[in-house]
Amino acid sequence: MKVYKINDHIMKYRFGSPFETHSVVMQGELTDKGKIHRLQVQWEETLKINYKMDKEDIIWGLGESQRGMNKRGGIYEAYCSDDPRHTPDKKSLYGAHNFIIIDGLEFFGLYIDFPGKIIFDIGFTHKDLLQIEIEGKDADIYIIKGTKLYEISRNFLELIGESYVPPKWAFGYQQSRWDYLDARAVEEIAEAFEKHEIPCDAIYLDIDYMENFKDFTIDEKKFPQFKQFVKKLREKGLRLIPIIDAGVKIEAGYGVYEEGVEKGYFCIDAEGKPFVAAVWPGRVHFPDFLNPAARKWFGLKYKVLTDYGIEGFWNDMNEPAIFYTERGLQQAIHQAKRSENENLDIYSFFALKDAFINLSNHPQDYQSFYHQVEGKRINHHQVHNLYGYNMTKAAAEGLQAIDPDKRFLLFSRASYIGMHRYAGIWTGDNHSWWEHILLNLKMMPSLNLCGFLYVGADTGGFSGDTNAQMLIRWMQLSLFAPLFRNHSAMGTRKQEPFAFDEESMAIMRRMIQLRYEFIPYIYAEYMKAVFHKGLYFAPLAFAYEDKLSKRVEDQLLVGESLMITPIYQENAVGRTVWLPEEMLLCLFGPGEKLQYSVKFQGHHYIGADLDVVPVFLRKNKLFPIGSYGKNIEALDHTVLRFIGFVEDQASYHYYDDDGITYRYKEGIYDEIAIFVEKKSDDYAIHVKKKGSPKVKKLLFDLIDRRGRILEKTILLV
Ligand code: GLC
Repeated sequence: MKVYKINDHIMKYRFGSPFETHSVVMQGELTDKGKIHRLQVQWEETLKINYKMDKEDIIWGLGESQRGMNKRGGIYEAYCSDDPRHTPDKKSLYGAHNFIIIDGLEFFGLYIDFPGKIIFDIGFTHKDLLQIEIEGKDADIYIIKGTKLYEISRNFLELIGESYVPPKWAFGYQQSRWDYLDARAVEEIAEAFEKHEIPCDAIYLDIDYMENFKDFTIDEKKFPQFKQFVKKLREKGLRLIPIIDAGVKIEAGYGVYEEGVEKGYFCIDAEGKPFVAAVWPGRVHFPDFLNPAARKWFGLKYKVLTDYGIEGFWNDMNEPAIFYTERGLQQAIHQAKRSENENLDIYSFFALKDAFINLSNHPQDYQSFYHQVEGKRINHHQVHNLYGYNMTKAAAEGLQAIDPDKRFLLFSRASYIGMHRYAGIWTGDNHSWWEHILLNLKMMPSLNLCGFLYVGADTGGFSGDTNAQMLIRWMQLSLFAPLFRNHSAMGTRKQEPFAFDEESMAIMRRMIQLRYEFIPYIYAEYMKAVFHKGLYFAPLAFAYEDKLSKRVEDQLLVGESLMITPIYQENAVGRTVWLPEEMLLCLFGPGEKLQYSVKFQGHHYIGADLDVVPVFLRKNKLFPIGSYGKNIEALDHTVLRFIGFVEDQASYHYYDDDGITYRYKEGIYDEIAIFVEKKSDDYAIHVKKKGSPKVKKLLFDLIDRRGRILEKTILLV
């Protein structure tokens, strides 16, 4: 083991010679050998880490994973998996995020940089034992210290580098469905948004826009004159976001396939031939995204679509998902033939059934292909978790080369820590289950902890049928998520906001309008989290250290001022909440007029009918709100309203920028620093601006502990 000091807070322990994942951006200096902090490490055939947890220890982290924000009690497998039916017993989801924080008697962060499979048994086998088994001998283990949870997460986020920033329009509402089969269908959706006056920024193109599911092609029959089509929608204020899949169809005459074979850019099998697996288009090859030349080649292919005016992409099936391989298929067919005319009993029937059920994403298939990295053959299984990450890195680097100063929307299904520097993620194929609203809520802060700020789930649920009520409640959570996208699968009930009854549509319209009203806050808080290595979504424990706050699993801090308490139970008209301190409850509902009430510290039942979003404003904090518009570009922010719950003093940094370029990196952005001080029955307000903010007038609704509202206006000159 070699020990490196990264800085005063972070130590790296290197075992063997790990595969370079590029997940961290800090190197550190070799120091004298030292003992690994508080952990028992066994280094034999595999690397094992053991830690005895104290009764009260809480374990945070693991990004995209099942169960609670507190991961204790569960067993998790870091192995990017295409599992559309993720019931609570599933151990792996689409991403692999190996960072945890141990919060209790001892207090530190632990990041395991290893691209293969890791099992995190966090008090599952034995309630007090944290047992981590790394399927290999070569890994970097980082120990991250800090005196507060926020410090540990900040130190970790510094280690892994600055988050991706999408264009500002990507914070608008986005409509998707795997069912918009041709240009006419997309146009009908666009027209419905217009007709019903529901704001929207983007419509998604799922696999059907391609010609026979071939990446970087357009089906001209279904989408004739694509460039004009993209332009036409753009003129309506909408962007089209096409999907890109990992697998490249094997088809003579298809340029991407032929070039990839010729240049040796595909993953290979044991004989050195391009590896064959099957996904949507039937048989495909997988680009070898670990090979920089292949990455560059694939990344520049996005130009085919940007030349049509496309400004955003979602990368899919990049775990990579495998429907079947020849090996599995032959086995299953053999099993079927053997079963013909048999009297199938319990054993033979299940053997037959399993032969087909287990065709997809089979472990043996992941072990049977190779990457070629710096002249060495690497078995895919050993670096499995880097595949989606590097596909997305390919896209990000390609887009950067295509238009260096333009922010593109980009997010991926599979991911590994480090990918957050290039793109966001969506949480894959969930279900229209109430349980998945809660899972979505719990996953958001865990993802932020692992670097992923631009995140969101398929609102309304991907598989299964939603009802209007579930979609509305889900929207009430998603309207705070940086990625607010409604997406569903072919064959399920339609779930656009206008797919239900008039009354539900009116409520959904209001929820989406609220999203746009909250943009000044959502965008400012997102960007501040990027700059300061903070969290956009955080568990209560990150701001409140009392015993109860640490255990809250269904409320979230959003940015620096808000706490949200989404409703995730069918037919509920309210819920119980825990307030770690006195807060101001703001009920956002159908009308423009807001209802405020001051709530004391403690447990409360708060009523919230289906058309009401309860939002808590923390003490001595401000919450900027704008007016809604038909899309992000149409928002008029000359007047902003600030709700303030001010007992003694509050400050807020409002941030904005051009929303489309990277000029913010050169310090070109707008800022308004606001400081409010309570003076007996009045308030003194100071504002200072930087840059040239569009805001000209600031309206203040200042509320004190007794619930008295004082309105103030400040003109910004
Ligand atoms: C995968 C994606 C899903 C998409 C579907 C068809 O299941 O996760 O979002 O709609 O493929 O492309």
